[in-house]
Amino acid sequence: QQEPDYTGWHVLISAGGTREPLDPVRFLGNRSSGKQGFALAARAAARGALVKVVSANVSLPVPEGVEVIPVGTALEMQAAVEAQVGWADLVIMAAAVADFRPAAYAGSKIKKTHDPADPDAAPVIELVRNPDILAGLVQARGPAPRPVIVGFAAETGDADHSVLRLGEEKLARKGCDLLVVNEVGVDKTFGSDENTVHILRKVGAPVAAGPAGKDVIADAILDAARPLMG
Ligand code: C5P
Repeated sequence: QQEPDYTGWHVLISAGGTREPLDPVRFLGNRSSGKQGFALAARAAARGALVKVVSANVSLPVPEGVEVIPVGTALEMQAAVEAQVGWADLVIMAAAVADFRPAAYAGSKIKKTHDPADPDAAPVIELVRNPDILAGLVQARGPAPRPVIVGFAAETGDADHSVLRLGEEKLARKGCDLLVVNEVGVDKTFGSDENTVHILRKVGAPVAAGPAGKDVIADAILDAARPLMG
């Protein structure tokens, strides 16, 4: 049971993972299931918020009282988020957005033998950068206090950098108000019902949450965002 501490607030959430089409049957995608984004939507609604989810390729039941805006690609997600951001008091970018998309879309299926002169040649796929939707939101907001903006960072860490260190750098670079860092790997986080996160704040120590169900993690994120909303 939870206080209805989000009553009257408008919460916009991106969820899932974008798919960047190569041809009519293939895409570049990622392992995001949308579970954490949908758990955030369910918990924000349960705490009294009006909630819209820009949802990329999620096949989960829609939480009670939540409006879903379906998208496929990063560019579609950008357009949908930018169309809704004026409505929002809080934006949580939980989606895994492709950083790159194929430079060209082939209108018909790319053939195994794509170069008749060299039947064994593999095609080279040229990529171009997608816009960073989160960075665009922070830039467009400027010094205004709202919307409060929350980013996610899925990190694998490496020999020289812990996930927390990478998260701190990303929080500073992206300029969002909170950054939810989770360590990912093939069998960690993506598709799982559980999550372990560090919620990094501009001011104050990071808040650790989990391992716990994604609904518990969602409440921890909403708890951290609530005081920023005035
Ligand atoms: O830089 P990185 O992709 O790790 O940042 C992750 C955060 O940025 C997430 O909140 C994600 O939703 C957002 N993002 C975005 N547009 C992109 C890439 C990431 O909004 N093109």
